[in-house]
Amino acid sequence: MAFLTEADRKYTTPEDICAHVGDEYARFSGAIVPPIYQNSLFVQPTDVNGIDANDYIYSRVSNPTVEIAERKIAALEGADGALCFSAGMSAITSAILHFVRAGSHIVLVGTSYGPAMNFIKNYLGKRFAVTHTLVTGSDVSEIEAAIRPETTLIYLESPSSCVFMMQDLKAVAALAKARGIGTCIDNSYATPLHQQPLKHGIDIVVHTASKYLGGHSDIVAGALAARREIIESIQVNERELLGGIMDPHQAWLLTRGIRTLPVRLKQHAESARKVAEYLENHPKIKKLYYPGSKSYDQKALFEQYLSGCNGLMSFTTYGSSEQVNAFVNHLHCFQRGCSWGGFESLAIVIGWNEESGRYGLPQNLIRIHVGLENEDTLIADLEQALALLPEAE
Ligand SMILES: Cc1ncc(COP(=O)(O)O)c(C=O)c1O
Repeated sequence: MAFLTEADRKYTTPEDICAHVGDEYARFSGAIVPPIYQNSLFVQPTDVNGIDANDYIYSRVSNPTVEIAERKIAALEGADGALCFSAGMSAITSAILHFVRAGSHIVLVGTSYGPAMNFIKNYLGKRFAVTHTLVTGSDVSEIEAAIRPETTLIYLESPSSCVFMMQDLKAVAALAKARGIGTCIDNSYATPLHQQPLKHGIDIVVHTASKYLGGHSDIVAGALAARREIIESIQVNERELLGGIMDPHQAWLLTRGIRTLPVRLKQHAESARKVAEYLENHPKIKKLYYPGSKSYDQKALFEQYLSGCNGLMSFTTYGSSEQVNAFVNHLHCFQRGCSWGGFESLAIVIGWNEESGRYGLPQNLIRIHVGLENEDTLIADLEQALALLPEAE
């Protein structure tokens, strides 16, 4: 658990926060890169009758290397503090558990990350009688209508990570606050560089740090950011009891990734803009899903909440599912893979079922992540594979 220090608060721009929050040269012998505290135990200098004389006790509770990553994330999100976890799913489940009790009801945006929805629908639903109502989230009155007396949480993902649906964060937060309901948002797509939900009144921001925050496809990691009392509660309850804290080596890699987040995101956004323009004007593309594109459905929300885009987008084409799969298999620079946010370009056909269809997911949706390769190489790769697909009849 780390809270921002006075020194951290002196850094106000994302670039400076990413580069320097957590630097404590005097503490770490002048090391420009702080060391990894790769230890489970911190011994105490004196026996003080059960009162710990050292700030640190045991690395399941806290660790100096983990705290550096936490302070950077807290500063970026405009939070009092942050907690790092072994995976995005550990941050997500801890945030959800903070708000629910047996018998609670959750309003859940139906385009949220699949395993987060599974946790609510199947795990909490079947074992702890937690009920839920799925909503598209595109209209606040729909969310309001889904609220019940036993609702304790509204779970959002905005933009979502397949069709990039957005919710009106200010309106949802106001609605929830007036009724004493908690709010949690998965902000992984936007990153805190492009959207800071706490400023709009949302209670907890969760991240998979396995994507842009880490940025190098070498860690699975998660984080959440919130105001002080929420952080303190999740620290002593969900994180210490479930043991989901981030490993120090993972935290060290995450801190290294965050240092270059602003320049990496700029490049992802610049290359993705060119790829999106190419796809949007291509006769074989039926519909492009990309918040930064001209044809994006929720332009007003995009302009209100996001200050930029990243490298993730999706599209539908003409042709059968066999032809769509052949297109993806014919790409050379885009590897086939389900993650995103790393240096590498990826492509995948998103799995579909009737329920996801009802919440806006089209069949045969191709999602691509535009990595840090040369954008002309990527466009040429798409061009040669698109030759396999038919044009509109
Ligand atoms: C939007 C989103 N949220 C959360 C997660 C889960 O994160 P992790 O894989 O780090 O547990 C993912 C993983 O793909 C994701 O795409």
